[in-house]
Amino acid sequence: MYSFKNDYSEGAHPKILNALLETNLVQDEGYGEDRYSRKAIELIKRKIGSNDVDIHFISGGTQTNLIAISAFLRPHEAAIAVSSGHILGHETGAIEATGHKILSVEGRDGKLTPTDIQGVLDGHPDEHMVKPKLVYISNSTEIGSIYTKHELQTLHDFCQNNQLILYMDGARLGSALCSEENDLQLSDLPELVDAFYIGGTKNGALIGEALVISTDSLKEDFRYHIKQKGALLAKGRLMGIQFLELFRDNLFFDLATHANKMAGLLREELSNSQINFLTHSPSNQLFPILPNSLIAELQNKYSFHIWEKVDSDTSAIRLVTSWATKEEEVVGFIEELKMVLRGISV
Ligand SMILES: Cc1ncc(COP(=O)(O)O)c(C=O)c1O
Repeated sequence: MYSFKNDYSEGAHPKILNALLETNLVQDEGYGEDRYSRKAIELIKRKIGSNDVDIHFISGGTQTNLIAISAFLRPHEAAIAVSSGHILGHETGAIEATGHKILSVEGRDGKLTPTDIQGVLDGHPDEHMVKPKLVYISNSTEIGSIYTKHELQTLHDFCQNNQLILYMDGARLGSALCSEENDLQLSDLPELVDAFYIGGTKNGALIGEALVISTDSLKEDFRYHIKQKGALLAKGRLMGIQFLELFRDNLFFDLATHANKMAGLLREELSNSQINFLTHSPSNQLFPILPNSLIAELQNKYSFHIWEKVDSDTSAIRLVTSWATKEEEVVGFIEELKMVLRGISV
């Protein structure tokens, strides 16, 4: 059974595992103050083109969102997210458990617009309600779409004018930045958002996300917040070593490019077979709409998520490719799909 379920089905890229092995017996400081973490931070700052950011390694996406958002907000403040946003639907109320409401808006293509945010602000005029303060977006989004530079600039300007914090969840930032449709650079981000994270877990690392904070007022005491939430790892070097490897050369971007290439192949072949998609997703997640009978057949050989029911006969499934997806597996999946399709149509 081959899995297109997610981009963390495999372990870690061999270069990362080798780096962990090679450094295994070197003694160093704990809690992220080791030489590897410090070097990785310097390296990422160079790639971002800014020295004026704080970078912290945190082990997973939910933990990063939870620590960042709860640290950035005062007790009465709330976050705004699209209804499909990961913090709303898939993080077990982690943000809400810290006492902060998440205000949901419909958005478009999984993305937020200033109009959406304005609607929330209009609906929360005074102290009898929570105060919307942080705008949560993810790039790529939960449904595989990506933000253009213009869209992000517009959101940034709106947030600045309304004293809102703009926070980007980058669990799949690699895939977004390496998309053929992308016009954003990593180095644009510190100017455009107050904080964002660079996802390692879904792009070839064993674990780890690099949270980048660009706005000074959000930087203070951040390590206290990480420690208080139990996320300041004694063996923080584990993440430093991995990010050093991801950014030493071009590995981070090479791996994301591979995942996108495999998704591109799937997208092209599915389109050639007249399959429609639920969303326009130029990244490593695809949402083809298939007859339920075809889905049932495919499930004998492949695992994937059934995303949503479209009508009584069809559903959208989610296919995710990764840094490790093999081209022959993509080809095999397409052949299987075509074979079953032929069977259905005769
Ligand atoms: C956009 C996004 N953010 C955050 C997360 C949560 O990451 P983790 O499972 O590492 O907590 C995910 C996981 O799927 C995600 O897709």
